[in-house]
Amino acid sequence: MEKPRINSVAVGGGAYGDEGKGRIVDEYVDYFSKKLKVILYRDNGGANAGHTVEVGDKRIALHQLPSGIFTKGATVILGKGMVIHPQDLLEEIRQVKEVNGGKLPVKIIIDEMAALSLDTHRAFEGVVKDWQESVKGTTGRGIGPAYGDVLTRRAIRMRDLKNWDEDKIKKHYQLYAALIKGMDADLAKAEVNRLASSGKELVGSLDQFMSKLKAQSKELSPYIGEVFTLLSNAWAKPKQFAMIFEKAQGVGLDPRYGVYPDTSESDCTFAGISSSSEGAINADQINYRVSVIKATYMSSVGSRKLPTLITGKIAERIREDAHEYGATTKRPRDVAWIDIPALKFFNKMTKATHLGLTHMDIVYPDTPIKVCVAYKLKGKTVGYRPDQEYLLKVKPVYKEFKPWSREKIQKAKSLKEIPAAAKKFINFLSKQIGAPIQIITTGPKREQSIKLIKIN
Ligand code: IMP
Repeated sequence: MEKPRINSVAVGGGAYGDEGKGRIVDEYVDYFSKKLKVILYRDNGGANAGHTVEVGDKRIALHQLPSGIFTKGATVILGKGMVIHPQDLLEEIRQVKEVNGGKLPVKIIIDEMAALSLDTHRAFEGVVKDWQESVKGTTGRGIGPAYGDVLTRRAIRMRDLKNWDEDKIKKHYQLYAALIKGMDADLAKAEVNRLASSGKELVGSLDQFMSKLKAQSKELSPYIGEVFTLLSNAWAKPKQFAMIFEKAQGVGLDPRYGVYPDTSESDCTFAGISSSSEGAINADQINYRVSVIKATYMSSVGSRKLPTLITGKIAERIREDAHEYGATTKRPRDVAWIDIPALKFFNKMTKATHLGLTHMDIVYPDTPIKVCVAYKLKGKTVGYRPDQEYLLKVKPVYKEFKPWSREKIQKAKSLKEIPAAAKKFINFLSKQIGAPIQIITTGPKREQSIKLIKIN
């Protein structure tokens, strides 16, 4: 096994996204920024992610900037594996500056190799929705078509935007105009999503599109550059640089491992860090690769049908208590009992070294916690497979756990103070999923978390 690189940690979603990764990232940022220079790297996704960050008494919703963007003095890198929407990114940068006294708290570098996601992609996704059922559940941020452009080798990169490759960008617009025309719609008149704060906008004519993008190119250019050298150098100096990797989405949304077609398009496993950084980082050497899951239940947004879906009053209670509504889409999320076969599979694919458990306080004295420990199919015990038809046929086998006191867990400050029933439960999860638990969160406040394993 390769030697782990000290002072490095990666945080990723262990299920279907929205596990509360941001708070866990905060913990590591706090710890490392006190002793080292911090480099924060995001390798996947785009404006489909969503996290709310509190700065003093202000709250802002971020999509493309990682939640660690307020790590004063850090360098924040948006990696090659992302698809980035320039206009929305500029709006996020503006909001961050606004709550930070007019200045950015960090240095932002956008990998010149990252692909653009544009209004053309959003418009295309909007029109395809009327033709193709499976597109209906997307976040509407054009993420699928943007990654489609990467796979089909026609993506516009950040470098093209910076160098203003007018011909390439024009052809991009014309291609999407033709595709959309073929579906009886008009690109120029298509309305696309903006960040929640600024509503909807028309894509506009070729000239309008080009002039808007040109202005954005000017504004974003200072942030766009080569990052491979910086990443390689910093990775080689573990005593100088702490490297924190913040992933978006979750393994259950990875196009290969999630429930197709209800998947996103980027690499949601830790391995994506290696590919996005062109090997400057070896994800297998990241010292702590923490896969975050909700402790007592799972949540899912979209049309996938989970074998352990919870319905009725219990579902409603969890949804309200844990605010299970999409950060990007505001859609109510499905909630489900913990599904060990799925989590075991996700963990095998992402190769986490540790688990982070959130929402330990979502428990009810009158309701046992159910955990699906296996699937049965035609009398046989079977595992998870990323296939909706298969998952519709399996029957979950449940084990029930005694709930613990919400008040007690919310007040706990150390492992010793965790109720015995909660300890039993998390030990069981750890053993079943196959990774030790590094951290748990025990309530909505930032200080309500306990590190079970010290990081160093
Ligand atoms: P897309 O990422 O917009 O292509 O959406 C594809 C699927 O992934 C949809 O089911 C989305 O709801 C889901 N999805 C994408 N990003 C997230 C996320 O950050 N949390 C939860 N679901 C997500």
